[in-house]
Amino acid sequence: MLRIRGKNKQGKDGSGELSESELMARIDMTGLPRHIAIIMDGNGRWARARGMPRTFGHRYGMDSLREAVRTSAELGIKVLTVYAFSTENWKRPPEEVNVLMGLLVEYVHKEIDELCANNVVVRAIGDISRLPDSAREALRYAFERSRNNTGMVLNIALNYGGRSELVRAARQIAEKVRDGRVQLEGIDERLVGDHLYTAGQPDPDLLIRPAGDYRVSNFLLWQMAYAEFWFCPTYWPDFRRRHLLQAIYDFQQRDRRFGGIKEGGK
Ligand code: IPE
Ligand code: IPE
Ligand code: MG
Repeated sequence: MLRIRGKNKQGKDGSGELSESELMARIDMTGLPRHIAIIMDGNGRWARARGMPRTFGHRYGMDSLREAVRTSAELGIKVLTVYAFSTENWKRPPEEVNVLMGLLVEYVHKEIDELCANNVVVRAIGDISRLPDSAREALRYAFERSRNNTGMVLNIALNYGGRSELVRAARQIAEKVRDGRVQLEGIDERLVGDHLYTAGQPDPDLLIRPAGDYRVSNFLLWQMAYAEFWFCPTYWPDFRRRHLLQAIYDFQQRDRRFGGIKEGGK
């Protein structure tokens, strides 16, 4: 098979060979990913590399989040999902968990005006009933303030785990079968999708994971079935607009087949 060399190549260090404006000029605005998912990873290592406590990294990571949300909304991405706290992150020291929850509250209050100015709808995915009261109140405030917006949906994954999401869906569906509201034959992929936190949203087209690890860490397991994965070594607090643009540009060079073959393919 003949391939143009480098066509599917990912920028070596995620910073890419092209400048931000060159990337902007090359990105096909008609072929944007509808849904981008980001595993915001590497805050702790970023801080440690600077001799600072891990929590500094979480704080600086908020700037990267602001930039990613701003850029995505500006481009016209329909859904952006960011992994902020996994069901496994409770294993961390309580002090770190407290800082993360505090930063969530801070994020909401600092960003809600800009989010609304950018027409962003704030949502959460995950079992937020387990979060501290202050975090749930801040989220409620953000949901309320942004609920009439009509632009990009920002899903913040909090106490989120792909497996627990599927268990929850299984339980809800089983309950409906038991009560006769769903027939066994009625259980199909669409029905399962309708019982996920992301019901009604397109599946992620593009998954971005900074910080050098190549795994999904229990993120959007069902929804990721045909997502394109993009990795870079840059830690999340250093992740800038150009990294996001590079990821989108590289995504557009990928050959998505969804199990089929190209027209005229052999
Ligand atoms: C991501 O950064 C933030 C959360 C998981 C909440 P990490 O805290 O995982 O940073 P590293 O991966 O240890 O560097
Ligand atoms: C994934 O990162 C979760 C978030 C970014 C919120 P982790 O740092 O928790 O994942 P692992 O431990 O490297 O798999
Ligand atoms: Mg990590």
